[in-house]
Amino acid sequence: MLKSAVLAAVAPVLFAQAVMTAPDSGEKGNDPKQIYTSLCSRCHGADGAGGSAPDLRSPVLFKAPTDGDFMQLIADGIPGSGMPATQGLSITDLKALVRYVRGFSEVRADPPKGNRFMGEELFREKGKCLDCHMLRGKGGTLGPELTGIGRRRTAAQLRAALLDPAKNIPSDYVRMTASMRDGTKITGVLIAEDTFTIRLRDDRGGLHGIDRSEATIQIDAGKSLMPGLRGTFTDAELDNLIAYLVSSTGS
Ligand code: HEC
Ligand code: HEC
Repeated sequence: MLKSAVLAAVAPVLFAQAVMTAPDSGEKGNDPKQIYTSLCSRCHGADGAGGSAPDLRSPVLFKAPTDGDFMQLIADGIPGSGMPATQGLSITDLKALVRYVRGFSEVRADPPKGNRFMGEELFREKGKCLDCHMLRGKGGTLGPELTGIGRRRTAAQLRAALLDPAKNIPSDYVRMTASMRDGTKITGVLIAEDTFTIRLRDDRGGLHGIDRSEATIQIDAGKSLMPGLRGTFTDAELDNLIAYLVSSTGS
């Protein structure tokens, strides 16, 4: 069962310039399918196919292009339309809900045209991708694990992620800034939260436990740490790199 905290409009999650204080949903959060079923399905349909509200299965949602925008859209609703604001969800639950809804758009096969062996070399050498990404057990942890990325993303989605990283940030990597009472600021990605604290990982990998009562927290939708490849990779190189990523379907 959903905890009542999810539905009650206590301690709303606010965005933009506002203070964000989410209630407890435990470190693990609630089941996103249950949240969707209780809060969204009556208008958008059980499987996102739409009903009185739009179909959510499209790979691109025009009003929620990035996951940060999507989280904000859920919290704020769309004023003046039939889309209500949903306040009181924790950040963990919001992220899980966004991931769940994004999952409605199935990954369709669109075979890439590049050469994956040349792509692997670009991945290791010119792109320095391993500085930040793990693939098959090697690499850094600042960015998401890329092993199996070919099962989760289409070639078109990968192209968009490589050309415009800031517009394609997965919900787990949406950045936030905690402004402490003493004036210091900590920016990073959310690792965990509970009633009293949130934990952020900063850009150098340092972990910070932050007392909610000591800080205000803002979402920085659309800020990315990943260098975009526009201009540094030729079209052919980009095709090769994408062919390599698409070929990673293992676990
Ligand atoms: C009472 C009906 C209703 C409920 C409940 C509802 N929505 Fe909506 N939603 C709408 C309507 C109507 C629109 C279209 C508004 C517009 O575009 O002006 C919309 C639009 C959207 C969009 C933008 C779609 C696009 O193509 O860009 C998203 C995303 C969305 N809703 C997600 C959700 C999620 C997630 C939930 C549950 C937390 C939810 N909605 C709950 C009615 C609802
Ligand atoms: C400085 C660190 C850094 C480097 C170097 C880097 N990335 Fe990233 N990458 C990230 C981060 C962080 C994200 C998470 C989203 C964001 O912040 O943009 C990301 C996201 C991605 C995604 C989207 C993953 C998903 O689940 O949608 C892909 C694909 C990707 N990177 C591929 C690459 C490739 C290929 C290279 C090398 C050409 C590369 N990255 C180099 C940090 C980096």
